[in-house]
Amino acid sequence: IFSALRPQQPDALLALIAMHRADQRGEKIDVGVGVYRDRSGLTPVMRAVKMAETRLVAQQSSKSYLGSDGDIRFTQLLGELIFSAQSVDDDRRFGLQTPGGTGALRVGAALLTRAMPDARVWVSQPTWPNHAPIFAEAGMATLTHPYFDAKTGGIAFDLMLTALDEARAGDVVLLHGCCHNPTGTQFSVEQWQALAALCSLRGLIPFIDLAYHGLGDDLAPDGAGARMMMEAVPAALLAYSCDKNFALYRDRVGALFVQAPSAPLAEMARANTLALARSLWSMPPDHGAAVVRMILDDPALRKDWRSELERMRTRLNRMRTALAAAHPLLAPIARQRGLFSRLPIDPQTVEALRDHHGIYMPADGRINVAGLNDANIGRFIEGLLPHLEE
Ligand code: LMR
Repeated sequence: IFSALRPQQPDALLALIAMHRADQRGEKIDVGVGVYRDRSGLTPVMRAVKMAETRLVAQQSSKSYLGSDGDIRFTQLLGELIFSAQSVDDDRRFGLQTPGGTGALRVGAALLTRAMPDARVWVSQPTWPNHAPIFAEAGMATLTHPYFDAKTGGIAFDLMLTALDEARAGDVVLLHGCCHNPTGTQFSVEQWQALAALCSLRGLIPFIDLAYHGLGDDLAPDGAGARMMMEAVPAALLAYSCDKNFALYRDRVGALFVQAPSAPLAEMARANTLALARSLWSMPPDHGAAVVRMILDDPALRKDWRSELERMRTRLNRMRTALAAAHPLLAPIARQRGLFSRLPIDPQTVEALRDHHGIYMPADGRINVAGLNDANIGRFIEGLLPHLEE
């Protein structure tokens, strides 16, 4: 047993956490893994989360099972946050709680392969390194389309559309809802419209990954593309993560929303998704979803969460402006959104920055802007500038 297994590379992003932790230098800078950090470099529990947790501990009278769809009120409130109260009631749509956005992607991928065994998924080049493995484990082949225009720091949209000309009816197109990981780019309203038209015309299934809702421009604009897409096409999926916008990372809180062409097909898809969830994790962990439900259900907690989220967003965008002003090649960073941007540097430079300056980022030059603050951004720029070519 096990002799047929092949060695596995440790996940590069998770390995960075360990490397940074082991570095004894006091002046090190972590712009690696995607967690929000405040101006003192910490990833605190949000105020509204702490308050809801205190109430939850005091009020919870049972930890008995809820079922494979998890906390139903959580999913409903989250659906209203993304879409609208009316569209959540649409009987062609359903949602279920999942262990993080990864769980939502995984069970969604399993549903798609069960429904369409020959379907393939198109992902942007580059994308979050875990996307292809998630779909591969569910048995779906991955194809890539061009996406990032390193020259402009924007989206190579025409090249993307040209590549998608090769897509077959029933193929899945994975789209980042906002704050693209790793480039920080986002589709414009017109680009979302063009993608929606393409998916409708060609029978492609959009699968939207919304993992940074509220960390780009605000909740409404960050969800606008997803909303528009779901309204324009007959069938679509959306994976939602509460990791970043509720700072609940290790509690694994997410949801999958599915839209089918008709109510009976939605019911069929729902039954199949619940059966798949049952075999994958049986039931999702409750704590974090209960906390999000309590926050969204309580006007005062909800207001406080939104204001803390706004502060996080403002801080990110302030760091973006400062970085963009340091060099013309960094200028696109001011237009990009969310935690990430990709620097125009090669893997050797990434290594040199780590060795000589204690600056930690993955080999592709992705930086987590939240790792920067007023105390370290000067040092970061000083280390980086000699490596930028005009
Ligand atoms: C990241 O991209 O750094 C985050 O989404 C964390 C992860 O799980 O990879």
